[in-house]
Formats: sequence, C-alpha cells, structure tokens
Amino acid sequence: MTATACIPIQAQSAARAPDASRFPLDQWYVAGFSSELTDKPLARTFLGQKVVLFRTGEGQVAALEDRCCHRSLPLSCGTVEGGGVRCGYHGMLYAPSGQCIEIPGQERIPAKAKVKAYQVQEKNQIVWIWMPRIEGAEAGKAPPDYPYHDDPRYKFGSGNYHYNSPWQLIHDNLLDLSHLGYVHLQTIGGNARLHMNAEMKVTAEGDRVKVVRLMPGSTPPPTYKAAWPFGDKCDRWQEIEFDVSHLRIWTGALEPGTDAIDDPERGGFHMRGFHGITPETDDTCHYFWSMSSTKYPDMPDNIDAVIQQTAFTFDEDRLVIEAQYRNMLEFGERATWTDIHVDVGGNRARRIVSKLLEQQAQQAG
Ligand code: FES
Ligand SMILES: [Fe+2]
Repeated sequence: MTATACIPIQAQSAARAPDASRFPLDQWYVAGFSSELTDKPLARTFLGQKVVLFRTGEGQVAALEDRCCHRSLPLSCGTVEGGGVRCGYHGMLYAPSGQCIEIPGQERIPAKAKVKAYQVQEKNQIVWIWMPRIEGAEAGKAPPDYPYHDDPRYKFGSGNYHYNSPWQLIHDNLLDLSHLGYVHLQTIGGNARLHMNAEMKVTAEGDRVKVVRLMPGSTPPPTYKAAWPFGDKCDRWQEIEFDVSHLRIWTGALEPGTDAIDDPERGGFHMRGFHGITPETDDTCHYFWSMSSTKYPDMPDNIDAVIQQTAFTFDEDRLVIEAQYRNMLEFGERATWTDIHVDVGGNRARRIVSKLLEQQAQQAG
C-alpha cells in the first residue's frame, strides 16, 4: 500500500470540508501528466472529490471515485490488475467503467456493485478529467489542445505542486508578471521598474482573458543569458492566456533590431509555460506545470538549464503564495485588498469564475 490515501489519518490534510459548488463544473481540469499514470493507483482529490487514477494494462487511463462500494477502503490502497483496479481489502475488481467485474469467492455480482467513474482523456501528454455538473453527464466539449508538448521545435520538462492556498491566488500570480522583478531576480526577473512600467494590454473573449506585456530594451535576466547568447539588451514579450482550468504563458526575447516584438512568427528565445491549476479543496489546489523551450544550436544544454531554473522560479512563487494565504487567514476579515494597476488581468479572471459560479447556482435552482 503506497498510495497517499492509505497514510494514517492524523497525517492527512486538515483542510475544511470541500464544497464542489464553489468551483466551476462542466470543465476539463488537469488530473496529471501522462508520465504520472503508471500501473500503480494514484490518489488525488479534485474539486473536493476523491479520485483514484490508474492506467490499465492496455494503456488506457481511468479515474474512479476512490472508495470501494463494499466497505469503503480507498481503491488507491489496492492494485492495478490487467484491465482494472482491485480493492486491497477483500479483492473486488473494478473496470474503468466503475462496474465491479469480480468478487473473489462469489459468482453473483450485485447490480449495485459499482463505483462512480469519471471521464478522462489523455492529450498532448496531459491527463484531463471532466468534472460534470450533473453526475454521469457526457463531456460537452473536447479537452483543450496543447501541441507544444509534441512539437519537435520544443523540448519540455514538467512538475507539480500541492499548494496550501486556494487556486485563484495562483491565477492572480500568473496573470500579473510584474512580480518577476521582485520575486524572481535570480532567474527570469530583470529590472523591476521596467516590469512595473511595461505597457499592458488586457482583452477578454468568452471565458478567456489575455494579458500582453511588451518590454523592449530589457536587460536579459540570468535564465535568458543561460539559454541564449544575448548581449546587453533584449526585447522581451509576455503573453498570458487564462482559461478556467489552465493558463498558457508564452514569454521570450529577441535580439534588438531583429524581428518585431509583437510578431507571432518572431524568432529568438521562447519559453512556453503550461499551468494547470486544479482546485483540491477550498484551501488547497494542485498546480501542474510544464515548460517548453526552443533549442539554440551552439548551446545544447540550454533547455535543461531553462527547465531547472523554471522549477526554482516556481518554488519561489509557492513560498510567496502560501505565505500570502497564511497571512490572509491570520488577518481574517481585516485582510482586505487594495487594487493597483497590475491587477487588471487577475480581476478579470476572478469575474469570469464568479460569473460561472452564479450561473451554476441558478441552474441548481
Ligand atoms: S472494502 Fe473493498 S472489497 Fe471489501
Ligand atoms: Fe512567479
């Protein structure tokens, strides 16, 4: 028994009881990366719902409610066997559909011997889980595409964090990259004043927000220098796209005087970040990230350096965000916020989430 669901109860998170209605439903959320799903069951909680993820012997990904219908042991305490997962207590075997297909020592399988199954799809090395508003309802759309994981021009590395903070604090952080000049000086930072004064364009379309910041004449920060032979100056761009379940952040830089900084076909050094933010409970979330970067011919190790420094950078964000949330809890109602100019993107995203929750509440009657 290796899964986290099987650890002693006193060692588990003391988070408040989750309430799924506090999160937008009818969405594909990130459940993990393909490389995480093996022949061992993996326990994760998404939107307050305990799920066991596994990969069958045929390579199919599956997600079931993490509770055996017999005596409630988490299925993540069991084993993956051929086409299903076997409970680690009395051996009931469940198919990816949630149906029990074997009860050791008993021929008849009761009709109600089944558990809830979730729709999961693997795409571009990301495992997506559909969190429906109505149990059992089919997904109303396909999972998002993220082609850069399979694009030969890029190489990517990935990681994930369990965060002791609500998911929206990570949206705020990623939609406001002015913090780079204060939090990430050892890697992707640069001149704080330039970041704070960068012209910012924020647009919204449907349930998406896009923030673009252009910073010509920047001093290349350490990660950029490690990855690309920049001189004293570079023209930097940052394009952030928010979707409810994830963000795509395309940043990079050009040698001044080469391509136009706002040309999508521009050359230079590129970092494409994928950020899947999946709520776990009201107070905690999962943060799945990947960084895809372009190769520079004479610097064969450049992408490895970028990925390593990205991981360092995201460790810094986690320290800040978790400290921010601890302080919010300690100050309670007195922890009111005062907006400044950098908050436009984050606030737009918050309005989208609020709108979706209002719609959900109306649908629930
Ligand atoms: S608790 Fe799962 S088979 Fe008994
Ligand atoms: Fe950051």
